[in-house]
Amino acid sequence: MISGQDLRSRRLDVGISQFQFARQAGVSSAVVSAWELDKAYPKPPAERAVLTALSALEAAKREGTYAAPRKRSSGSTRARRVTPVNDPASVARRAVAGAGSGDPTVLTAFSGCGGMAEGFRMAGFSVEGYIEVVPEARATFDRNFPGARCLGEDIRAIDEARVKDLLAQVDIDVLAGGPPCQGFSLAGRRDRDDPRNHLFRNLLQLAELVKPKVLVMENVRLLLSMKDPDGGMVVDRILGEMAACGYDASVNTVNAQDYGVPQFRERVFIVATRRDSSIGPLRFPPKTHGVNGVAPLRTFRDATVDLAPLESGQACETDPLHWAVEHPEHVLRWLRDVPEGMSAHDNEDPAMRPSSGYNTTYKRLRWDEPASTVGTTFGMISASRNVHPKHTRSLTVREAARLQTFPDDYVFEGKWGAVRTMIGNAVPPQLASVLAGEIKKALG
Ligand SMILES: C[S@@+](CC[C@H](N)C(=O)[O-])C[C@H]1O[C@@H](n2cnc3c(N)ncnc32)[C@H](O)[C@@H]1O
Repeated sequence: MISGQDLRSRRLDVGISQFQFARQAGVSSAVVSAWELDKAYPKPPAERAVLTALSALEAAKREGTYAAPRKRSSGSTRARRVTPVNDPASVARRAVAGAGSGDPTVLTAFSGCGGMAEGFRMAGFSVEGYIEVVPEARATFDRNFPGARCLGEDIRAIDEARVKDLLAQVDIDVLAGGPPCQGFSLAGRRDRDDPRNHLFRNLLQLAELVKPKVLVMENVRLLLSMKDPDGGMVVDRILGEMAACGYDASVNTVNAQDYGVPQFRERVFIVATRRDSSIGPLRFPPKTHGVNGVAPLRTFRDATVDLAPLESGQACETDPLHWAVEHPEHVLRWLRDVPEGMSAHDNEDPAMRPSSGYNTTYKRLRWDEPASTVGTTFGMISASRNVHPKHTRSLTVREAARLQTFPDDYVFEGKWGAVRTMIGNAVPPQLASVLAGEIKKALG
């Protein structure tokens, strides 16, 4: 056992910051900080990890093979692999959270990076398995849910034996997923043969195999206006096919901002209960925030005010997810004096306006309102409503993750583009947790 003071001076001898050292050791900065201040001595796995990392760094320095971590060169927007914030304490917490005997269980399909799954875990569910076709999303899911089994990649080709093997060991209470519906269209004239038209059916087939008591299907609000190639409403078709599988459903249109998510995000949740189970009809619970809610709406400021202030091209030294894309000088000029809630297209001087496009683009968010919907293009200043309220730049990955209510210790794997896509596509965990809490109550 070494004292906090010794740890600190040996770390400083190596020339590594507390944050970088914690990352090398695979523990949180809080663990290293508490130890160095002699406030708390870590438990054996973390203690071992820290001492091993320290010895390895000292040896590397002695042998001349140690290169102090480089700061991100400001301005580079080249995608690179995200170094995960590998905190064994948080991973262990994740592994056990909701996994107590008797806890309700959930499987997710079309799982993405796990926003929906994280919400169920927050509500006390054990996340037992998942299906997801994109490798980066699977890697992210595995990192954050080490206890969950990958039951398949493409839902159209899952191995039933794997699912049955899981079912032999655990009953699944809830199956949740958000099948993409791009194959349908508002006019109903889109490609009749688009294979994506049938993905919701694959979810139903999985439900027939797993027989969960509750089936949750999340989608964009536009689903309610989509027509199938025969002119019928897609949502009616989904409800009809669910009924034929023995599930009675409610259709819930919600805005995430009404449930404590600092973001305007309208979504539809179809919540279905198995007719032969003892659970009655389930609905999304009443609003918790905003008008008629008990708490005020959460704002961009609430979610991000503690983050390092960054301008275009700058990076936070202590948070690898918090760095700002460097934008061209002429775009910065257009935007510099644009007030909150306004767009560069609103500038009086035509020379200070983009040459084409709508005034939802190059637009500043407002500090004291929920953010606009976080999409997959939040890093692009030219896309819709992505300019920081105060700084002249698009949103960082950390800001988007916060606006989506991912906890800071959530690990994202993959290149930046893939990470942005996963975050923008996710169900905000906070929103999912509200529904999951309601389902948990009903399961008893
Ligand atoms: C809207 S995202 C879901 C986000 C997720 N619910 C969350 O909260 O993070 C839809 C996901 O479905 C996945 N997907 C699309 N087609 C699929 C298929 N055939 N089989 C499995 N996953 C698929 C996509 O890769 C994407 O990650």
